[in-house]
Amino acid sequence: MSTNSGDGIESVLNETRTFPPPAEFVEQANIKSEEEYQQMWQRAKDDPEGFWGEMAENLDWFQKYDKVMEGDMPDTKWFTGGKINVSYNCLDRHLDSWRKNKAAIIWEGEPGDTRVLRYQDLHREVCKFANVLKKLGVETGDRVTIYMPMVPELAIAMLACSRIGATHSIIFGGFSADAIADRNNDAEAKIVITADGSWRRGKELPLKKAVDDSLEKSSTVKKVVVVQRTGGDVEMVPDRDYWWHELMQDISADCEATELDSEHPLFILYTSGSTGKPKGVLHTTAGYLLGTQMTSKWVFDLKEDDTYWCTADIGWVTGHSYIIYGPLANGATTVMYEGAPNWPNEGRFWEIVEKYSVNIFYTAPTAIRAFIKWGDQWPNQYDLSSLRLLGTVGEPINPEAWMWYHKTIGQERCPIVDTWWQTETGAIMMSPLPGVTATKPGSCTFPLPGVVPDIVTKDGESLPKGSGGLLVMRQSWPSMLRTLYGDHERFLETYFSEIEGCYFAGDGARTDEDGYYWIMGRVDDVINVSGHRLSTMEVESALVSHPKVAEAAVVGFPHELKGEGICCFVSLTEGEGDDAMEKELIQHVRQQIGAIATPDKIQFSPTLPKTRSGKIMRRLLRDIAAGRETSGDTTTLEDASVLESLRKKDE
Ligand code: WTA
Repeated sequence: MSTNSGDGIESVLNETRTFPPPAEFVEQANIKSEEEYQQMWQRAKDDPEGFWGEMAENLDWFQKYDKVMEGDMPDTKWFTGGKINVSYNCLDRHLDSWRKNKAAIIWEGEPGDTRVLRYQDLHREVCKFANVLKKLGVETGDRVTIYMPMVPELAIAMLACSRIGATHSIIFGGFSADAIADRNNDAEAKIVITADGSWRRGKELPLKKAVDDSLEKSSTVKKVVVVQRTGGDVEMVPDRDYWWHELMQDISADCEATELDSEHPLFILYTSGSTGKPKGVLHTTAGYLLGTQMTSKWVFDLKEDDTYWCTADIGWVTGHSYIIYGPLANGATTVMYEGAPNWPNEGRFWEIVEKYSVNIFYTAPTAIRAFIKWGDQWPNQYDLSSLRLLGTVGEPINPEAWMWYHKTIGQERCPIVDTWWQTETGAIMMSPLPGVTATKPGSCTFPLPGVVPDIVTKDGESLPKGSGGLLVMRQSWPSMLRTLYGDHERFLETYFSEIEGCYFAGDGARTDEDGYYWIMGRVDDVINVSGHRLSTMEVESALVSHPKVAEAAVVGFPHELKGEGICCFVSLTEGEGDDAMEKELIQHVRQQIGAIATPDKIQFSPTLPKTRSGKIMRRLLRDIAAGRETSGDTTTLEDASVLESLRKKDE
């Protein structure tokens, strides 16, 4: 099964190599056998009502639902007639047991400060902040923007929103003021919760300042709550801005969880689409909770005494589902780390694993590639023997990175769960079950119970094993997005118009002869930078909003660490473009979208390759950006000499 590092590379090229779960893992696993999995999967496919009805007994209901599911995809409603509350399920129900003194969140700040919140501590803080929200005029159904560092107050704010039925919209701290304003406006947010700043590699990122700037353009926001984190200078606007710690001083810790409909909107999370402005993916209450709770248990094999760490930022869906809602619904102990993996040095993650005896560790391929680059001496300095399970998410993992993860971090002892899912799916859709599935490096293996995928042609015809095609879902699942906030038409158009009767969100995939699924990446104009989806269109529109830019085309290219880098082809209104202009444009994109969208390359060109009908041929630009020969047809190109001149410049 194992190989030494000498022949490791060769072996990973062999895709049929499999890694069955170690016997000691199987023995203690939540799901132990292939038969058990097969039975669950088949039952969920043939009798989704029966299956999910049984699963829903794992939730605490104020009032039982009338129907498990109603209506066909895309407009399936789940657990209609039921009354439930997510924060109640994540907190209150654990307080009647010994878990009240169990650590819910173990938090580690970037500068090294720490906090542990037991379930009863977290419950108290959430109740208090829920009362703060009410006092500030937030009502059930209102939208609340959260723009915060990875501090416990972020978890408290989310759970407080869900406690009173306010819909949260969390914006990743790497987005700019303009991006916040767009999201505030789209969601018509009533209040913003933020912090003075956030720590990143010892430097302070000014979050409150970005919020102040955004509020000049978002008039629906009436109040701002500010957590004091860095102690940096901020301007507080009277009757608009309030310090978190002051609001929390004299407020009651009594706050009953509101009884909400199963389909009550829990949160909006903005994600990039292939066209236009970001899409407000909307998730609702019961189905999302059930999806994250069950998948956490199945995939991460959660046990009472586990210390579980997902390294994502809560600003992305992975943090929502697998730092907060899924683990807490299971009564687990979840680790939350504020800072960068290489601060104060490249051993920080492994130091945290050792310090808290982390058992389950969930990260992204982009991080794994960085660890490989930084060298084995970092993990090798620490005791990683507490680890029993590893996970990955966000983009396809290259087999070489998988093998390194398996050997150097997992010490050939820990199963790896490669989890495929999306912001839209709410919860993990395809993944190995760690006590059941023999894994193959780079494959997300098989669908979880309730997930019925298919690989089809553009016309919706199922493809045989071995052929690549479009990945679709043929059956509704409880944690599916319900709409794009304020734009149901766009929801139908984006996900359900491509392939009739199916959900399609833009990935290509194939199965191999054993039926394993292999994700082949995006098939639309969305690129995956460090595991985060970015629309090339958004970067293009940011570029052309600069007065000196006439036209821009943006493509992804293979990037050693980020997976995909951002390459921009730009023609200017006048002049050739130089280093100063390049810097100016990079800065401009950062200001429009945020640091997350920082271009890696900008290439100036008086013209861009176009078809005779005037469409930019991004396919050709992708080849140039990747340094490849031009592949495919170029006969529709209006002016073939453009390609030559672009290639010369690239040298
Ligand atoms: C990609 C992140 C291959 C995929 C949870 C998907 C993956 C997009 C994997 C969703 C994986 C995510 N293997 N590709 N294990 N996980 N992806 O919405 O292209 O930020 O469509 O959700 O990431 O990204 P999102």
